[in-house]
Amino acid sequence: MRSGHSPEGEELPPDFRESLRSLSEAIRSCTRCPLAEWRTKAVPGEGPDRADILLVGEAPGRDEDLAGRPFVGRAGSVLDSCLNDAGIERSRVFITNVVKCRPPENRRPRKAEVEACWPYLEAQIELVEPKAVILMGNAATKAVLDVEGVTSLRGRVFREIFLATFHPAAVLRNRNLKEALVSDLLVAKEKAEG
Ligand code: URA
Repeated sequence: MRSGHSPEGEELPPDFRESLRSLSEAIRSCTRCPLAEWRTKAVPGEGPDRADILLVGEAPGRDEDLAGRPFVGRAGSVLDSCLNDAGIERSRVFITNVVKCRPPENRRPRKAEVEACWPYLEAQIELVEPKAVILMGNAATKAVLDVEGVTSLRGRVFREIFLATFHPAAVLRNRNLKEALVSDLLVAKEKAEG
């Protein structure tokens, strides 16, 4: 996993890594990067305290920013449909994003924003202890594995637990990608069950 991030900015609360609850509280009151000024609600992520599969998206969109929950808009419907096709119950996976606040106009999160938010994702992975972490899209793949190019990376397991795949929003633009996303979810499911 990536390490060595040391962004300038606000200190993290000393107990933020203790539980998913303390982590969510720290995220909801976070002002470590300028995205804090834009958000309606921070979106810490959701799911069971322990989950075999953890999904990582890019950043909350408009619907997520209003709801404070990940993947509840159009990309969320695609994700739900893919999970359903793969026979994975949404309530049994942990769903989060690289950055927890919506970037203005849904632009890609900037490097400094990803770095400021990194300790939260790292702590979520540590606390949830997933057997498979699915990195959906280039932002998640870059943030965690420090490589880009989901198309060539997808379907393979990196560092024991990480798998890259397409972002559900890419499926909205090109429905043909759905099959690949579902097939990658099935690889993760098998890994989680094995
Ligand atoms: N896109 C993401 O990457 N994350 C969300 O939560 C919603 C849309």
